[in-house]
Amino acid sequence: MEEVIIRPYSSGDRDSVRQIAYDTAFLGNPGSAFFDDQELLQDYLTSYFIDYEPESCFVAVSGSGVIGYIIGAKDPSSSRKGLGGRLLFKAITRNIIFRKKNAVFIFNCLKSFLKGEFKAPDFSRAYPATLHINIAEGFRNHGLGAKLIVTYLDYLKKEKVRGVHFATLSDRAANFYDRLGFVLLHKGKRSYLNNILHKDIFCYIYGKKLS
Ligand SMILES: CC(C)(COP(=O)(O)OP(=O)(O)OC[C@H]1O[C@@H](n2cnc3c(N)ncnc32)[C@H](O)[C@@H]1OP(=O)(O)O)[C@@H](O)C(=O)NCCC(=O)NCCS
Repeated sequence: MEEVIIRPYSSGDRDSVRQIAYDTAFLGNPGSAFFDDQELLQDYLTSYFIDYEPESCFVAVSGSGVIGYIIGAKDPSSSRKGLGGRLLFKAITRNIIFRKKNAVFIFNCLKSFLKGEFKAPDFSRAYPATLHINIAEGFRNHGLGAKLIVTYLDYLKKEKVRGVHFATLSDRAANFYDRLGFVLLHKGKRSYLNNILHKDIFCYIYGKKLS
């Protein structure tokens, strides 16, 4: 593989980061598997980080451009003023509910919610920071994910952040987080993708204390 550098995110990386976020949104595959509105899904996955706290974001760049990212937030309880309202407004004005795939997805999420599947302990006191990481297909398994995590953890330590936690639906990545010193804090069943995967999956919350 050609040389790859890890560097801080800059505004010129926005489209590439959003593209990778979409291309990996469904367990490492494109979000079109479960949702029919690329722009809204990209907003949902990335805006929270890159539009509000770009200084906590890093990218992996090769000759062909951005091939991976870690986007973070030092304290998720800090204000993301207007984000929820903006996403809801966009969802309504783009009539997303009237597209069959979206209606099914939203209905299934609602069912999961009513079954209590989204309930999880609040880890934000001991592990205030969070993260979202993805590597484009074709560039995985070359150590880039580990380098991005180490870069982000070093950054958080310099910023004197106590700890970091995040959620993932990927059971394949367990070894990866284990090796990087994360511990599994919580595991909860999710059934809202059953219509596509024909099985329940799990949401894993990992955490790591930094001081
Ligand atoms: C998970 C991921 C960020 C790891 O980055 P990476 O550069 O591939 O990882 P590294 O080369 O540093 O380490 C390899 C480890 O990554 C994990 N991994 C590799 N490919 C993976 C994939 N397609 N999906 C999930 N985890 C994967 C494995 O645990 C692997 O370790 P193993 O060989 O002992 O099983 C990256 O593979 C990825 O983006 N995967 C697809 C989407 C995803 O699962 N994102 C996680 C969201 S929290």
